[in-house]
Amino acid sequence: MAYDNYFPLGLAKGKAFIGRIEDAEWLNKNIDTGIHTLLLAPRRYGKSSLVLNVLENKKLDYVEIDLQLCRSGKSVEMKIIRGIEQIISTAIKEKDKVIQSAKRFFGKSKKQWDIGLKGLVHVTIEPEKHDDIAENILTALQFLEVSLKEAGKKAVIFIDEMQEIINVNESDEIQGAIRHFAQKSERVIFIFSGSSRRLLQQMFNDNAKPLYQLCDNVTLGKIEPRYYTAYIKKVAKQSLDLIMPNDVINEILTLSERHPRRLYHLCLYVWRLLETTKKKADITLVQDAWHKLIFSEAKSIRYFLSKFNNSQLKIMAYLSLESNKGLTSKEAQVATNLSSTAISKALNSLEEEDLIECDEDGAYHIIDPVIRDTINFYEKEILA
Ligand SMILES: Nc1ncnc2c1ncn2[C@@H]1O[C@H](COP(=O)(O)OP(=O)(O)OP(=O)(O)O)[C@@H](O)[C@H]1O
Ligand SMILES: [Mg+2]
Repeated sequence: MAYDNYFPLGLAKGKAFIGRIEDAEWLNKNIDTGIHTLLLAPRRYGKSSLVLNVLENKKLDYVEIDLQLCRSGKSVEMKIIRGIEQIISTAIKEKDKVIQSAKRFFGKSKKQWDIGLKGLVHVTIEPEKHDDIAENILTALQFLEVSLKEAGKKAVIFIDEMQEIINVNESDEIQGAIRHFAQKSERVIFIFSGSSRRLLQQMFNDNAKPLYQLCDNVTLGKIEPRYYTAYIKKVAKQSLDLIMPNDVINEILTLSERHPRRLYHLCLYVWRLLETTKKKADITLVQDAWHKLIFSEAKSIRYFLSKFNNSQLKIMAYLSLESNKGLTSKEAQVATNLSSTAISKALNSLEEEDLIECDEDGAYHIIDPVIRDTINFYEKEILA
């Protein structure tokens, strides 16, 4: 097995998917009992991996709809309808039944939708052009419900990057249509997720918003150390015939702060160094691997940071030195040369971007340790 399979940087699948036992059980129960879920976690914490692992294990029909690049209501409508086509195509084997039930369903509602087949297995759904977007989404979902009911099946719709919907003009109407359907559906269970926790919480937990209290909120934390320890030991034995010392594993856990993606990323570098340098597995080797990782990521991180303004960069530079409680204090104002209002504004926007978070003690810190150390190693002069 290649190291990339042991430590994937895309989805964590199969044996590389570790821990998350309670979260998986919780999600499973929600699906079984028809409770919709809002899954919250910082970027790259394993939201997609968790959902897809649970769904694969359940052998349930599902579709993943990613709204990342949707900039118009029409593109959201199309993504959702393509997703519905996909579920119907995989869940219902007898395609002539789909066409029959389409005739009945659309006949009753007096809508002139085109339901067809592409290559015998793929169902295509084409709404009437003049209907509005939210109405089309609702109709397509209702057709899915009817089709699933006739087939005696249930399905899951996993909508990722859901916060993107607020950027389209018809946002409220689309959210209203989803709510209207989801509240009554007996066949379709929704899982919503996304990378901006602040925006998602506003969408789902504000009583003035259409999706208010539709979902059970599930927040993903870090994966417990014992799972990583056992996994790293197992992989070291299997791939390098090495007994990985505990202090080396602890150093991997400490430097990566158990940020899920960064931990696997660091492991990849440790494995490469072990293989190419033939040095022994010790703490220094892990630190070398971490520096190499920061160095190789620095360019893309600097590029990513270039979209932030001066106050935001200053706050991140300040936080890269240590996590901090008194960010609007005089000391912070002097260190950053920013007013307390500018600091609050920058903190707010950085939280919205999910770059920083505030822990239970009220201390802010940068979520991704590689971003933090890149700023710390290379960009100290931001504070000058
Ligand atoms: N259960 C897991 N066990 C081990 N590593 C994991 C697990 N889940 C995720 N990871 C690591 O975290 C990385 C990110 O996972 P994933 O893409 O599922 O996260 P995400 O929260 O959906 O990210 P994004 O915010 O980009 O959508 C994976 O590439 C993998 O390295
Ligand atoms: Mg994801």
